[in-house]
Formats: sequence, structure tokens, C-alpha cells
Amino acid sequence: NKTANQMLVIFGASGDLTARKLVPAIFNLYKGKHLPEKFVVLGASRSNLSNEEFRKKVVHESKYLKERVKEGQEDFIKAFSDKLFYEDLGKDYDTDYTNIAKRIKDLNEKYGTEDNFIFYFSTPPNLYEVIAKNLSDQGLNDETKGWKRLIVEKPFGYSLETAQGLNKGLQKYFNESQIYRIDHYLGKETVQNLLVTRFSNSIFEPLWNRNYIHHVEITNAESVGVEKRGGYYDKSGALRDMFQNHLLQIVSFIVMEPPIDASAEAIRNEKVKALKSLRIMIEEETLAKNTIRGQYIASDANGKHVKGYREEDDVHPQSMTETYAAIKFYVDNWRWKDVPFYVRTAKRMPTKVTEVVIHFESPHHQIFKDSDMNNKDNKLIIRIQPDEGIMIKFGVKVPGQGFKVERANLDFYYSSLSETNVMEAYERLLLDAMQGDATLYARADEVEAAWSFVDPILNYWENSPDVRTYGYSAGVWGPKNGDDLIEGSMGWRNPGE
Ligand code: BG6
Repeated sequence: NKTANQMLVIFGASGDLTARKLVPAIFNLYKGKHLPEKFVVLGASRSNLSNEEFRKKVVHESKYLKERVKEGQEDFIKAFSDKLFYEDLGKDYDTDYTNIAKRIKDLNEKYGTEDNFIFYFSTPPNLYEVIAKNLSDQGLNDETKGWKRLIVEKPFGYSLETAQGLNKGLQKYFNESQIYRIDHYLGKETVQNLLVTRFSNSIFEPLWNRNYIHHVEITNAESVGVEKRGGYYDKSGALRDMFQNHLLQIVSFIVMEPPIDASAEAIRNEKVKALKSLRIMIEEETLAKNTIRGQYIASDANGKHVKGYREEDDVHPQSMTETYAAIKFYVDNWRWKDVPFYVRTAKRMPTKVTEVVIHFESPHHQIFKDSDMNNKDNKLIIRIQPDEGIMIKFGVKVPGQGFKVERANLDFYYSSLSETNVMEAYERLLLDAMQGDATLYARADEVEAAWSFVDPILNYWENSPDVRTYGYSAGVWGPKNGDDLIEGSMGWRNPGE
């Protein structure tokens, strides 16, 4: 794909994300020769920085870039950092954008970026509409000459209502086709590979339905706690931080029907349909049975003391915010009727792992009586991270007399494709937006459908006096009640155990 000459304008450029993710991603694109010949970045925010100070902060003295740069590459680095500029917005984002508009115009003329601009909103969501309006007042949404795109960061809203408000606010000034809502999980190779596994093979899709799938399980575990983000996290919680966005995106790839082709609109049409078919839980009784929240408490594991969530900086000492969420739900459509989905996400788990497990039905009639294969169903395990790959578990005969059945693995690991350079999520997503490909960005109706499912759970958790937040020691697989969510002897698959 050809990438047109263009300028990337980052609002919130002095923030952490720019140094940690965006500039390293742009740098990698530069190194991989994916940037167009004429390309500049203009950082904007409320800090008073010169171009040089900005370059120092995000390139020369950035701890996030050093890892990627080798000695003796000073000229190369300088050529890269010369593409970066900075504009001080003043004390407020809702200000007169005449200066920044003029700066954009000057850079555009000087560097030949052909009026193609991406505006990256790396700011709190309450500023999205304000920035969009001010850009529009300066005519910077006008596509008569060159295209204009917005990339907006998460969290996209705090609830259905606020997400709808954000969509309306942005759509007042930009068309939906100009708006790219980022979800970095969509930039992960293995998440995209869910589509390829399903729709480029003939061996999975015929089984991909209620006739052959017993249940679906998704685990997203992190070993870290909330780190320095207590202030943000305490108002958010695992359901908003991970489930509404990243995990429901994964769910939509598992649930969706085959799209008519691989275009952004065809894929996203099917994802919306999938998200709209999640059965919304309304009754308290249903919510009580199918949703569990937990919070990590202090623990001494492996000789190391780990703080409890409530002792973290900027967290309310009596906070009920969940750092663990486990949800069981159903999908009301032809393909998935009565197949339970179990999804959990948590911090301070024993390890960092994200995986999808498709559990197939046991054979309808088991002739190998002394085999315990019935309890060891066939599984397809899609490892999103780390050790990205796919594994199929199936029964084989144990050598010797009789028919004893054991389970064997058939696996593929991405690391075996050693010659392939796997792009990092932000790198891939930025390049897509630069090329105008919105396939891996969330559309307005997708985001709203996801919130429609999550809202009643949040309301229940936040407003019902009966809901408990169960404690779990840092370093275990969540509270006991979370284990009970999966009925019978099946239980969660705890990777590595
Ligand atoms: C972010 C969340 O969106 O995703 C973080 O805000 C979380 O709380 C992170 O740690 C996880 O991303 P990844 O790519 O490390 O799984």
C-alpha cells in the first residue's frame, strides 16, 4: 500500500503515551521505511516546550526509545528527530487555534505534506469535542484539498451515555469515515489471526457453532498491579479498562459471521451484529449469578510483599473498584444459542497471559470406556500473548494394550516464523490510519453496542447494595467465587499450571 505524504499532529504530546508508545511506533515505521517521503510530526499540548526540548523528551533522552537504538546511529536518530516539531497550545485546549492552524499551514508548505493531516487525540476524552470543534473552526476538517483524519484514544466513554455523547460531539465536526477509534488489541497479530484462522481454513468454521462448541473461555491476566495509574484506574476498574473495549473486541471476532469480504465496512458490519447479539443482562438475579468482581489484597508471595489495591497511590482506602472481573454470558443468535462464554480479566495474577480457549463438545458416544477423554475435551487454544500461537488438543492412543486415550498437542508458535518482523500494535495501527484503512479501528456503533452490554453490569455493581467485591491475594488466579462461575468440574484453564 502506498502511504501519502502527510503530517501527524498529536494533541497531548507532552503526555506519557506519546513518549511511551507513539514516538517509538513512528520511529519503528521510519526504520522499516514505511513512512512516506514527506512526513512530519507536530506535537501540541499545554506545556511550554521548544522543538528541541520536545525532541529531547521523546527521542534523545527518552527511556522508551533507547532500547531500540544502537550506538553509532546518531545521524539516523537526528534525521528522525528533525521530523518532529512542537507547538504550545497555551493554558487551555479550548483556546484560539489560529496559531496552531498557522503552524500546520507553514509546516505543510515547507515540508510538502500535501494537506493530508492526522490529528491524534492523546488527551482525556472530555477534550475530544473541544479539539474537534476548534479544528473545525479553522477549517481543518475540510477535505477539499487533502484528507483529514482523527485518531482518538481510549477510554472511549465511561458509559453508554458518555460514549454516545463523544460520538455525537466528534460527528458534529468530522464524518464517521474520518474518525479512527484506537483499540490497541486490534493491532495485535494474534487478534487479527482469529479472522484468518476462522475464515481462511475449511477445518474450523464448520465446527464453529453450537453443535460442536461446548463453551468459550477467555482469560486476560496481568501480573502487574495498577502501578502509577491509581487515580485513573480507581474511577474506571477492570470492566471499563479492559473488558468493554479489548475483550469485547476479541469476543466480536469469535462470535461474528463470515463477512462478505475483507473490507473495513464488511468486517465491522459483522462485528456490530455480533456485539448486538450479546444477551444483555438486566435482572439482578441474572447479574448476581453471572458476574463477579474482585480486588487484590496485600500478599507475601515468594518472599516478596505486594501491596493491596487499596494501599496503592491515589486509590481510595475503601475503594470497591474491581481489579478482577469475570463474566458469563450468552449470545442470542442462530450460531451460538445456549453456548456459554466465560471471560475474565485481572491484575496481579500469577502471570501475564491472554488466551482464548474454544472447548469442543465431547464425542456424542464414547466407545473407549476407560478413557477419561470426556473430561478432557478437544480444545483450540489461541494464545494472544505472550508466546503467540495456536494449539489444538486432541486424544491419542496410549501405546500398549487396550484403548487408553491421552491428550496430545498440535501447535504453532509465531516465534517459529523467525524471519517475520512482527509489528507492534501501535505501529501497525498508525500505519493503517496513515493509509486510510479503518478495519482495525472501532466504529461508533461497535463502541456503543459494547457499552450497551456493559452498562447494566456496571450499574448493578455500582448501585446494588448486595454486590460484594471479593478479595484475592496478589499472585493467585482471582477469588474462589470466580472459579465457581464455570459450572461442574471444567474450571478455568490457568495457563502454566
Ligand atoms: C490498557 C489498560 O488498555 O491495556 C491497562 O489501560 C492494561 O490497564 C493494558 O495494562 C494491557 O495491554 P497489553 O497490551 O499489555 O495486554
